[in-house]
Amino acid sequence: MMKKILIIGAGGQIGSELTTYLRGIYGDANVVATDVRECKGLAENGPFEILDALNATAVASAVGRHHIDTIFNLVALLSAVGERNPQMAWGVNMGALMNSLEVARQHHCALFTPSSIGAFGPNSPKDMTPQDTIMQPTTIYGICKVTGELLGNYYALKYGIDTRSIRFPGIISNLTHPGGGTTDYAVEIYYEAIKNRRYTCAVPSDVYMDMIYMPDVLRACVELMEADPSKLVHRNSFNIASMSFTPEIIAAEIRRHIPDFVLAYDVDPVKESISRSWPDRLDDTCAREEWGWNPQWDLPRMTEDMIRVLTPRLVAESVG
Ligand code: SER
Repeated sequence: MMKKILIIGAGGQIGSELTTYLRGIYGDANVVATDVRECKGLAENGPFEILDALNATAVASAVGRHHIDTIFNLVALLSAVGERNPQMAWGVNMGALMNSLEVARQHHCALFTPSSIGAFGPNSPKDMTPQDTIMQPTTIYGICKVTGELLGNYYALKYGIDTRSIRFPGIISNLTHPGGGTTDYAVEIYYEAIKNRRYTCAVPSDVYMDMIYMPDVLRACVELMEADPSKLVHRNSFNIASMSFTPEIIAAEIRRHIPDFVLAYDVDPVKESISRSWPDRLDDTCAREEWGWNPQWDLPRMTEDMIRVLTPRLVAESVG
């Protein structure tokens, strides 16, 4: 049972919702949210601190002061933005991870770090990509993720640190926007369909990628961190899957609710090459067997929920 949690990078795509979710389970005071910049929402119902994840002394001080036993390191530049500045992506993604691993080692904390479908590359099997297979990613984002997975296992093996990780599909949420990812289109498409009945997609029409709805993401984080360690054959990192689609398939699903929705394309060559290098669909058997992963959301249910939640909010914004 987790008692005192530190979230690093709490203002990002996963953190802004995971903070609230963890506070609901473990108590507001037991989840310390931190980010490099002020995040108003996160300070409202629990402790929040400004923390530069690249400052090892500051990270160690936060862990010590709050008697932390579990760290969620959610710091990352995503795939498309990483390609614009690979040196910075490596520096931020690996710097935050190394500081998290070292502080976890020194203070005996458990550590969760997200990995991604982006950890795979063009040589990985495309369909039902196995848990253990060739990786060889061709983006700096993926190279950081694979390195992070290896380092996580290294710290577990060498120092006995309880490191755990999930290879997340593209994450879709009705609250938080992603920033700079290749899968961002699958979030933007809902907003634009509701507001303008039209969306111009940067990813080619026929590319399949794994996607997941935020409620399944939040539950997966807790279920993995609460899993019985004796059942875990793997640690860093688990394939999970719940839905896989192309832009055409998600558009067809949206048209069941918004029949005049028009999907156009202006393909971004960087996003095209990244998306074509990633798997079509992951095999999540190991996560199911080792810690009971079982997704609750598929594309039809998620689409219905996104449109139900977003429509009144976007209408209110447009009149307000
Ligand atoms: N959503 C991420 C991205 O597109 C993948 O992990 O970069």
